[in-house]
Amino acid sequence: MTEQTGAAVNTLARQLVKDLVPYASARSSMSGGAVWLNANENALAPAYQLDGTFNRYPSCQPKAVINAYAAYAGVAPEQVLVSRGADEGIELLIRSFCEPNSDSITICPPTYGMYAISAQSNQTAINKVLLLNSEKLDLDGIFATSPKLVFICSPNNPTGDLIPRDQIVAVLEHFKGKALVVVDEAYIEFAPEASVVPLLSRYSHLVILRTLSKAFGLAGLRCGFTLASPEVINALKKMIAPYPIAEPVAQIAAQALSVPGIAQMQQSVTTINALRSDFIKLAGSLPGVQRVWPSNANYVLLQVADAADCVSALINADILIRNQSSQLGLTQVVRVSIGSADEMQRLATALQQYFLTYQQTKREHA
Ligand SMILES: Cc1ncc(COP(=O)(O)O)c(C=O)c1O
Repeated sequence: MTEQTGAAVNTLARQLVKDLVPYASARSSMSGGAVWLNANENALAPAYQLDGTFNRYPSCQPKAVINAYAAYAGVAPEQVLVSRGADEGIELLIRSFCEPNSDSITICPPTYGMYAISAQSNQTAINKVLLLNSEKLDLDGIFATSPKLVFICSPNNPTGDLIPRDQIVAVLEHFKGKALVVVDEAYIEFAPEASVVPLLSRYSHLVILRTLSKAFGLAGLRCGFTLASPEVINALKKMIAPYPIAEPVAQIAAQALSVPGIAQMQQSVTTINALRSDFIKLAGSLPGVQRVWPSNANYVLLQVADAADCVSALINADILIRNQSSQLGLTQVVRVSIGSADEMQRLATALQQYFLTYQQTKREHA
């Protein structure tokens, strides 16, 4: 394409597209380095096998996967939608329930970035009601909004906090007949007792997002789930692509959701939760770390004096962590995903070294 035709194509794009700042995923912004602790993936990755041929179009909603996830989550198959990651669930919800240029969603920053990006790409306004002390919902603030969808992330990314169940119930009660309440449980396997699945039978406007990307160690698979009343699921099915789940994805998802697959996932959760406790202890003892959030997921948020400096010092040690300081309601914070024991050891050494040097430099300049 010549430079001129490229420019012409750019002018043809919708204004919305010209204005959109795409989501800077951990993988798109940085993928060098040897130790990846910046995308909340699971380093203890299981290996899977594929078999068969792939000449036929796949099922839109493969029964083996739907039935296995329904059994795992404790819901009926009619309450489950499988999609290309939980991200597609977010997008489908917004496209199915929000009229462009008139409806809005409510989100509670600091939180996962894709709710806002998907809303913007559907020309949907965003009400931002900050978490209180970055851990509890501001109920009065949320009740002052009139959205079609309320997004609550629990455990919340990037803080790791669980949103108290009585607050979620209060939001559900308030928005009965007015809006859907979407609880994003992408990390729920790290704190399974906190799931709000038991509330699904009481509230037909409750929607729960799940994924195989985190505890199941399958971020590369792109497979997520929406749990909701059959009415919500049927609305989403009208909007989903005809073949969203590739046959290899369906085969691997079914293996991950088998009895041994789930046992393997639970074992890796036990290991990660223990590594997380060790890391929280270590982080609390580092002189340059001002706050350590109490995590219920596979990552920990740390308040430091200079987040950008900390991230780049770790890059020099071949370790990627994520600067979350641009999040509304947070300043100078880094998010560290929990990796393998070996990776956490390397991280501990690099952080100790960094803060030692940082303290020395500070003393020299004092
Ligand atoms: C809170 C939250 N929800 C949803 C997702 C997206 O998950 P998936 O990989 O299934 O699209 C992520 C990914 O990081 C996340 O942190």
